[in-house]
Amino acid sequence: MPHTTGPGRIGGDGSVTAHAPAKVNVHLAVHPLREDGFHDLTTVFLAVSLLDSVTAWPDDGLSLTVTGEGADGAVPADSRNLVWQAAELLARHAGVRADAALHIDKSIPAAAGLAGGSADAAAALVALDTLWGTHCTRGDLAVLAAQLGSDVPFSLVGGMALGTGRGEQLTPVLTRRRTDWVLGIAGAGLSTPGVYRELDRLRGAGELPASSVAGTADDVLTALRGGDAGEVAALLANDLQAPALALRPELERGLQAMTGAGALGALVSGSGPTVAGLAEDAQAAAATAEALAGSGAFRAVRAVHGPVPGARLAG
Ligand code: C5P
Repeated sequence: MPHTTGPGRIGGDGSVTAHAPAKVNVHLAVHPLREDGFHDLTTVFLAVSLLDSVTAWPDDGLSLTVTGEGADGAVPADSRNLVWQAAELLARHAGVRADAALHIDKSIPAAAGLAGGSADAAAALVALDTLWGTHCTRGDLAVLAAQLGSDVPFSLVGGMALGTGRGEQLTPVLTRRRTDWVLGIAGAGLSTPGVYRELDRLRGAGELPASSVAGTADDVLTALRGGDAGEVAALLANDLQAPALALRPELERGLQAMTGAGALGALVSGSGPTVAGLAEDAQAAAATAEALAGSGAFRAVRAVHGPVPGARLAG
């Protein structure tokens, strides 16, 4: 495997910057709770063009600052942040001191079902691997990524992939076909463990079947690679949507607003509360985003496309 590092990517001030994308689960089937507290999944991950960046400078010890989405307190700037944990993990793995001043510039909202924290962790691994000259392969970084969180390996790989296990086992799927999406971002986040717990509660109470998603991940991958956007729209499905709606009933209005503004189909992204709407093309996505921006249905609206690459050095 090629090394991800390159001294040419170190800036004049000694800094290294990496970007990583948000993700949408185009299809997400959640299987029963495992003994380790996680759920096995079958999911189709798509990396979309909403990027966070992480910059690392040489320094003594670790420090962290955050700007952009969630910088007002939703994103901790200390050892609770996955970026901090990524730095400590890589340093331990490589046998180097965890010395870096880190900065996250966030465009991906926190606790939104878009894997923003995972994107930051993946970008940190890539940036610090270059800053510290630790020469990890992508395979090494993927092993570290899986220890940080279920979605971090996909943030590293990007593109489009079938995810199994707790989401960390990936089969990349090559496609040249672009899909256009509108993200409707809610005011307040939802806790991922809380949404999984609500799913287990609803299933345990007999209020939800074992899985309610239509079609299979294979159907979705086939449609995403070759079919038209309408075919993909008919297959959008997410087992976490019902528990997210149970915890946040007003999300139903967001889903309706999305299709009402022209999206071919809409679903809750991951554990929510972001609503992802599939558009016919880039022009339709821009029109839907514009219609929604004035509607008050969401705190913020973004037109994005996928697939885009995973975490990589800037420049
Ligand atoms: O892996 P990650 O740290 O993102 O997971 C956060 C929480 O989400 C887990 O502690 C678990 O409660 C839940 N989860 C799950 N099954 C998965 C992924 C996450 O139950 N496949």
